[in-house]
Amino acid sequence: MKLKKTIFDIPELELENFSTYSTKELMAITEVNKIEDMEIDIKIVEGLKSMKVHNIMKRPLELRDFMRNFPAENKEKSSIEELSFSGSKSPGLQQPIERAFMTFLGYQLWHLCKQMRFLKYREKDIRWKYYSNFYYKGMRSYNKNFLPHVDPFSYAANIFLTESEQHGTSFFKYTDKETGRDFYSMSDVMSAGDKLRTAYTDGLKENYQYQVSDPESDDKVIGQMTPKNGDDEWTHFEGDHFYKRYYFMPSTFNSMSMYRGNRWHSATFDAKNTKSGRYSLVACIL
Ligand SMILES: [Fe+2]
Repeated sequence: MKLKKTIFDIPELELENFSTYSTKELMAITEVNKIEDMEIDIKIVEGLKSMKVHNIMKRPLELRDFMRNFPAENKEKSSIEELSFSGSKSPGLQQPIERAFMTFLGYQLWHLCKQMRFLKYREKDIRWKYYSNFYYKGMRSYNKNFLPHVDPFSYAANIFLTESEQHGTSFFKYTDKETGRDFYSMSDVMSAGDKLRTAYTDGLKENYQYQVSDPESDDKVIGQMTPKNGDDEWTHFEGDHFYKRYYFMPSTFNSMSMYRGNRWHSATFDAKNTKSGRYSLVACIL
C-alpha cells in the first residue's frame, strides 16, 4: 500500500530530553552504607527469619528521585480492568524496575546478607527481581488485597524511601480451632491433610467471602480462591480472630525489612488517616 504523504509536525528529540546516567552515577545512587554505619537486627520469631537494617542507603533521597521517574502501573485501574502488566495483586502504584539499573544494589545486598550470615546463597546462584510499591492516602483495595498473602519468591527486601514508621509489614498465623495447631503459610496448610485444609478454606469462605475461581474445576487449590468483592475501601489490617498478627516490621525511612516471603504477611497501611504515602523499593530473590 502506498502511504499518502502527510505533513506532520514532528517534535525534535534532543539528548537533553532523556534522563541519562553514567555507571558511576548510578552506582552512587544505589550505594549502600558501610556496615558499621547501619543498625542491624536479625531475628527468628515463631520460625520467621527476618532482618531489619536501619540507615541502609547512603543517598536515599537521590534513589527516590531516580525511581520516581519510572512509569508506574495504576493498580486500582488495572484491577478494575482485570489486566495487570506488572502481574501482581498488590495495591497502589507499582513500578517494574529493569534489573540492569540495580546490578550494584543487588551485589551489595547479597554481600550484606553474607556478612551477617543471614543467607548462605552464593552470589552466582541468586537472581534478583526489582519493583517498587507506592501506597497513598485514599488508596482503595481490590478483592480484599489487604489480607495476608504469600509471595511467589523466596526472600523480599523492602527499602523504605518515605518516613512511614506508623505503617509496615505484618506477619500472621492461623490457628486451627479444633487442634490448636498454628499455621504460618499456605504450604503449611496444604500439607496438613484434608481435614485441616478444609477447616482453613471454610474459614476463608466464612470470614472473607473467598470463592473458588472456577467452581466447575476439580482443582481445589487454595491459591486459586479469592474474595470477589472487587473495588472497596482499603482496610488498615492488623489481624483479626482468624489471622492473628505475631510480628510487625515498621517502614521507617531508609530502613530495609527483609523476610521470607512464603510466610503469610501483608502491608499494614492506614490509607484513611495517613498524611503521606509509603514508597518502597522491593528487591526479591527469585
Ligand atoms: Fe508480599
